[in-house]
Amino acid sequence: MEVIIQSSQENASVLAAQMVARLIRSKPEAVLGLATGSTPLPFYRELIRMHREEALDFSAVTTFNLDEYVGLGPRHPASYYRFMQENLFEHINIRPELAFIPDGMASDVPASCLEYEARIRDAGGLDVQILGIGSDGHIGFNEPISSLASRTRIKTLTPRTRLDNARYFATPEEVPHHVITMGIGTIMEARQVLLMGFGANKADALAAAIEGPVSAQVPASVLQFHPRAHVLIDEAASGKLQRTEYYRHVFNNKPVWQQVS
Ligand code: F6R
Repeated sequence: MEVIIQSSQENASVLAAQMVARLIRSKPEAVLGLATGSTPLPFYRELIRMHREEALDFSAVTTFNLDEYVGLGPRHPASYYRFMQENLFEHINIRPELAFIPDGMASDVPASCLEYEARIRDAGGLDVQILGIGSDGHIGFNEPISSLASRTRIKTLTPRTRLDNARYFATPEEVPHHVITMGIGTIMEARQVLLMGFGANKADALAAAIEGPVSAQVPASVLQFHPRAHVLIDEAASGKLQRTEYYRHVFNNKPVWQQVS
């Protein structure tokens, strides 16, 4: 795991976008795993800027989103389908038929989860998975005690996650209880993982995930087993880490061939 501490969310997001842009330029048919929420917004803005100003080409890229609320259709303002259209897809030249999001309206949820997994496999697997982190340590919507080997499936949100996400809904009661999420096993098969976390309210979860024991109580801690995981955070989010000096030293002394930007 590599922990990269930047002075701001903006700087960390630009760095993450540079890493993804480099992947797309070297492999135009790259397969990206994407996240929603407030964390990746500046990252998406930078990808859009690169598309407009630096001709970053998404025409052969395939994407798979991590999750969707059960019961929210594509037109619902809080659906992740809508989020992705508004915050990324409408602004780049991605082919809509290559941008996949779990189907929150599926009549047969288990069958649609199996199909999602098969689609990822058929696309050749995820080259990189973008992740945020929940204040309870979740990745995707794999809440604490999720199986570390889980695949795409239905999950029940914790009351804390429902409360964290209430800001996207007219009233807290409207936040669905159920979601479809890629599993932890699915995420772990991505060839690279980029987790971003910003702000003091993520500091405890990040400290537990990065420096605590690997445990299903903190799903993000499983990334300690990933051979190529980068964690990009800002100062505030690094507040509870013990080894920040070493993380900075590593980043500032990388061999040129290993530098991320
Ligand atoms: C979103 C997702 C979640 C969020 C997490 C953090 O697709 O899978 O794991 O990344 O809940 O949310 P924000 O970024 O809103 O703090």
